Amino acid sequence: MGTVGKTLLILSGGVEAIKGIEIAKAMGLKVVVVDGNPDAPGRVLADAFIEANIYDPSAVVRMIAAYEGREKVDGVITVASDAVRSVAAVAEFLGLPGISKETAFLSTEKFEMKLRFEESSIPVPGFVSIGSIDELIANVGRWPKAVLKPVDSRGARGVVRIGAEDDLQWAYAYSCGFSPSKRLILEEWIEGPQLSTESLVVDGKTYLCGVADRNYSRLPEAYPYVIEDGGETPSRFSPMIDEQLTKLLDSAANALGIESGVLKGDIVLNEAEGNAPYIIEVATRLSGGFFSTITIPLVYEINIVERAILLSLGQLPPLPERLTPICFQANRFLFLPPGTVANVCGPETDQLPEYVKYFELNAAVGDVVPNIENHTMRRGSVLVNAETRGEAVTRAESIITSIEVEVEDRAPLVQ
Ligand SMILES: Nc1ncnc2c1ncn2[C@@H]1O[C@H](COP(=O)(O)OP(=O)(O)O)[C@@H](O)[C@H]1O
Ligand SMILES: [Mg+2]
Repeated sequence: MGTVGKTLLILSGGVEAIKGIEIAKAMGLKVVVVDGNPDAPGRVLADAFIEANIYDPSAVVRMIAAYEGREKVDGVITVASDAVRSVAAVAEFLGLPGISKETAFLSTEKFEMKLRFEESSIPVPGFVSIGSIDELIANVGRWPKAVLKPVDSRGARGVVRIGAEDDLQWAYAYSCGFSPSKRLILEEWIEGPQLSTESLVVDGKTYLCGVADRNYSRLPEAYPYVIEDGGETPSRFSPMIDEQLTKLLDSAANALGIESGVLKGDIVLNEAEGNAPYIIEVATRLSGGFFSTITIPLVYEINIVERAILLSLGQLPPLPERLTPICFQANRFLFLPPGTVANVCGPETDQLPEYVKYFELNAAVGDVVPNIENHTMRRGSVLVNAETRGEAVTRAESIITSIEVEVEDRAPLVQ
């Protein structure tokens, strides 16, 4: 069948999507990037660009309907964004392979998703829908520890741990502030190690392509927020847990009606039940945070982005039977205390060791740093590999700690 000369729509032209655009180009595809930002960094790599807010499915479809090359489009995908509702809407409009709009909705609405999982007897934390402060007050005592979150946000934005003794009015308003629909979900907080998974789905069956440990060492000091500080791949529970995870993810794909595509999983191993895996949520898209674009190819030699693109074109990619890691990856984030940046001194990027596969530092003198509420508020990150897990962690942590940033605890001077 081949890919040369075919046309692929990629929703998102952001920094993390660049790798995806490059991979598509290397496959000989003509790439049309869709992004709401006319200055999206991926635009220059694309063959064509369509300006549309990728989180507004009808706006995207409208723009595609007006795009004269639409008849030639062979596939649609998103890289490094959560715009799966738009992907499904475009796939339906142009008659392309992809998940249905119903599946896209279920996979981006945390309450509806959990209802489906519960109906299919998939282990999920206890949950209840919250549509008002009174419902929160009435339900907060259901579990010893709970977490409140928008049904329709991402990146841990608006996610807060909560107990009956906390300021419920504040938590409700805070979480609602991140929810376009102003609907929240309250869940039982499950204690235990947290994992990320990424799979390809073919004929409703999932094929695991990566399992990572998420690092939540900052959790106690970050209360009530949930701050992830990178992680390590492969997970220390893999490969022992791989078969169990695959079964769980097969049921999740089935419950949401996913025939073909990608499935990203947020999993917690329930300590109280001998580390039994529970699903926190899944997403029907490739992961961000460079897991799909850097870590999975680095650790498992699986070009998952290329394989996901093949699926989006209706072609069958190679499917891994089991995971065979060739190295360890670790990543860590730079979080700054609140205040004003007075001085920044980081490593020279061209002098970083070869084992550093990604590095970024976004802090400049005069920047005002707010209190950290989720991992998207990080000011830098590093991703490394090594022959052992311990070495990878040491390397990542030492690069982060080598960054010297002075933050003055005061508001900026107003001239
Ligand atoms: N019920 C829960 N038990 C334990 N941890 C949870 C629970 N719900 C959310 N979390 C933590 O909060 C993070 C963000 O929540 P999630 O539901 O994945 O929202 P988002 O769409 O913002 O990623 C999760 O990755 C997990 O670490
Ligand atoms: Mg999540």
